[in-house]
Amino acid sequence: MSAWAMPTTAGPTDESTHQVQRVLGDLVQGAETLSALIVALGERARLIDISPALSERVAGVVQAMGLDLSTVSPERAAQLAGLGGGLLAQSANLSARPEAPETWNVVDASVLDGLGAASAPFAVQIKDAVAPRLEGLSRRLSGEATILDVGAGVAALSVALATVFPTARIVGIDVWEPSLARARANIEAAGMAESIVVRRQDVCDLADRDHYDMIWFAGPFIPADVQPQALRQCARALKPGGWLLYGAFAGHDPLSDVLADLRTLRSGGPVLDDEGIASQLGAAGLVQVTPIGVQVGLPSRIVAGRRG
Ligand SMILES: C[S@@+](CC[C@H](N)C(=O)[O-])C[C@H]1O[C@@H](n2cnc3c(N)ncnc32)[C@H](O)[C@@H]1O
Repeated sequence: MSAWAMPTTAGPTDESTHQVQRVLGDLVQGAETLSALIVALGERARLIDISPALSERVAGVVQAMGLDLSTVSPERAAQLAGLGGGLLAQSANLSARPEAPETWNVVDASVLDGLGAASAPFAVQIKDAVAPRLEGLSRRLSGEATILDVGAGVAALSVALATVFPTARIVGIDVWEPSLARARANIEAAGMAESIVVRRQDVCDLADRDHYDMIWFAGPFIPADVQPQALRQCARALKPGGWLLYGAFAGHDPLSDVLADLRTLRSGGPVLDDEGIASQLGAAGLVQVTPIGVQVGLPSRIVAGRRG
């Protein structure tokens, strides 16, 4: 953090500088609170063993926030700790290494697992809120569907999809070996080796044709310059009438909108509004393009397109 070293003279302080200082103080408190909550969730999930003194202080922060973790299941606590920890680590990387290239090259296991945890709730949303709006998709998914997870990461979403659609077969592809190694272990640990396979493959080299009922496309993580080619390959890999779901971050007010764009940029993907995504899907030959907002902890959206 030497780039941020304090100068010896601070210069004049006007009203707007005071305001920045106040906001900064509040935000630092927010970051500290989030860290304490993540530790408390980790402890609840029995993922970490901390000293009694630290445990007491962290519990004090949770209590002061008016939260009660005693009813949160250890499994859910682990998922929430991963989600918070992953996003906190990603945002800390922005301030610590703003010069780092905007590409997905994360090796920190907590960020990989955290972003995986963040994507897992999409599975239930797809079943309950997305598929019912897309012609024929619920029917396909309730049978022996084939699903492709593009940008499968640590396979948290693949595992969640296999849980929600137990008769489906899922193929996950990714180019990032640190994630693939974790994905294989996670699939094994979940006892899902029968229904999920992951392979190291660039989506641009996808050779499958007329094969999938649904393709999940991890929009924020697939580099902008390869997306047109990637989406063309995916369109060909769908069965006629199958659906591609392009997942993207979203906001719900001016600040969360720009934060969603920032998160997308730092994850390596293109910053696109719904129209921009829709035009990419159209250029790949997909029709019936439909944007759908979803709530998965972080505000997100899906833009769906169908193979005619
Ligand atoms: C962070 S993951 C999304 C989280 C994931 N659903 C999970 O459960 O972990 C997105 C992935 O897209 C992958 N990716 C980026 N470019 C790709 C490409 N050209 N082909 C396949 N995967 C790619 C990245 O390596 C990254 O692992």
